[in-house]
Amino acid sequence: MATIMETVRRPQVRQTQCFIGGKWTSSASGKTFETVNPATEEVICEVAEGDKEDVDAAVDAARDAFEAGPWAKMDARDRGILMNKLADLIAEEADELAALETLDNGKPISDARAADIPLVIDCLRYYAGWADKIEGRTIPVRGEYFTYTRREPVGVVGQIIPWNFPALMVAWKWGPALAAGCTIVMKPAEQTPLTCLRMARLAQKAGIPDGVINVIPGYGPTAGDAVVRHPGIDKVAFTGELATAKIIQRNAAETMKRLTFELGGKSPNVIFADADLDSAIEGAHFGLYFNQGQCCCAGSRLFVEERVHDEVIDRLREKNAERRVGDPFDPETQQGPQVDEAQFDKVLQYCEYGKQDGAKMISGGKRVGNRGFFVEPTLFTGVTDTMRIAREEIFGPVLSVLKFKNVDEIIRRSNDTNFGLAAAVWTRDIAKAHRYAAAVRAGTVWINCYDVFDAGAPFGGFKQSGLGRELGEAGLANYTELKTVTVSMS
Ligand code: NAI
Ligand code: MG
Repeated sequence: MATIMETVRRPQVRQTQCFIGGKWTSSASGKTFETVNPATEEVICEVAEGDKEDVDAAVDAARDAFEAGPWAKMDARDRGILMNKLADLIAEEADELAALETLDNGKPISDARAADIPLVIDCLRYYAGWADKIEGRTIPVRGEYFTYTRREPVGVVGQIIPWNFPALMVAWKWGPALAAGCTIVMKPAEQTPLTCLRMARLAQKAGIPDGVINVIPGYGPTAGDAVVRHPGIDKVAFTGELATAKIIQRNAAETMKRLTFELGGKSPNVIFADADLDSAIEGAHFGLYFNQGQCCCAGSRLFVEERVHDEVIDRLREKNAERRVGDPFDPETQQGPQVDEAQFDKVLQYCEYGKQDGAKMISGGKRVGNRGFFVEPTLFTGVTDTMRIAREEIFGPVLSVLKFKNVDEIIRRSNDTNFGLAAAVWTRDIAKAHRYAAAVRAGTVWINCYDVFDAGAPFGGFKQSGLGRELGEAGLANYTELKTVTVSMS
């Protein structure tokens, strides 16, 4: 048992360089950066620190593969076959990839194995099926003309992803891009580059032609910014912080790039008194604390109807006390460390704001241990709509509970935010549930469940939670351009 644990604990890091045109290379500057294990604060390895010159080379390779290489001539169905092959190779290495994810990100190994990696495989297979099903239409126009549309790949796409689901974000981005026939320059998050690099190696092994997928590890304001400004990139897909998205939107304006954004949230999770309280409480706990609270759609504003408020609080407190926080490689662990020191500091800062603003801290609020970025599951009650912990994205294990009395009130308060990513409602009254679902301004609504994702179900934000959708057919559409062809029939 001990030796099994040791091999799991030390997954091999094989890829640490830039991946450009099918070759592994140091960065042009020769610089590297450290990636850290957030559970121990130890450096895992050095990774090539890409910048503008590396992005330029990656765009050249991607452009060439898009216009001239085998990718450009390949039948769509064969693209799908290669994508399925990549999914197969990931499935073969699932345990090792899960361990690498846990090492780099700190998430519990049980989550990486049960959620992240299986979802990666499922997403790639889902989009593999789309590759040969992207169809145009014929359109009845006036006169002696025949008009039809074609859906063509948007071109070379830049993809900038965050650290909370490092491998899964790769799949969400590569899946629709590859199915559509695009080529890719990806910049993984500086905190978590390792699984992305491993997946690039597996893509090559699967036979995806050189230049189709390029990966430039590095920082946002350097490598990321070079992707955003590059005139040879047609579209940028970004997941991360709203403030970063606004910078990207400005910097991409010069080249009129197509942009899609998947940003943060302050998602309302509403428990009515007539709900099945066992599942509602489980959903409230899981909907916030899952992934150390580092989810864009975390149910971070928990609204509880007055009548059941105190009972819900008591039971949430008990669940927090039972939550196993610690070594993410222990299969029993439910909560690992925050991803890095900056996130750790941010979370503890919000715990202070909560107290300063007059909320009552029922549990948590402190560091766990003295090594690694662990934070106790934290619960605040007596939260009001104007407090910082009710308005701003914390991205950590901090749950704010607010009281409410009726449906009209809760619709209004749910929508009193600039975000609009997700919402959930727990009730046995189906009319009330659907009324809420229709009225809430959010891209995803869960009724009597939370965090239920499927590769076929579109996901994305209303308002400042994003632009465009990922997953499903909607996610694919964002990787295509629509062309109209008209033929004279006379
Ligand atoms: P971030 O938005 O700065 O980073 C996400 C990605 O964008 C990374 O790959 C980063 O290198 C890149 N990036 C940063 N600045 C850039 C620029 N000027 N041009 C191009 N690319 C750039 O997020 P960060 O700093 O890691 O986390 C800060 C907060 O953002 C978190 O506390 C959380 O509230 C939120 N966040 C939301 C996520 C979501 O899934 N919606 C994911 C990660 C963070
Ligand atoms: Mg940032």
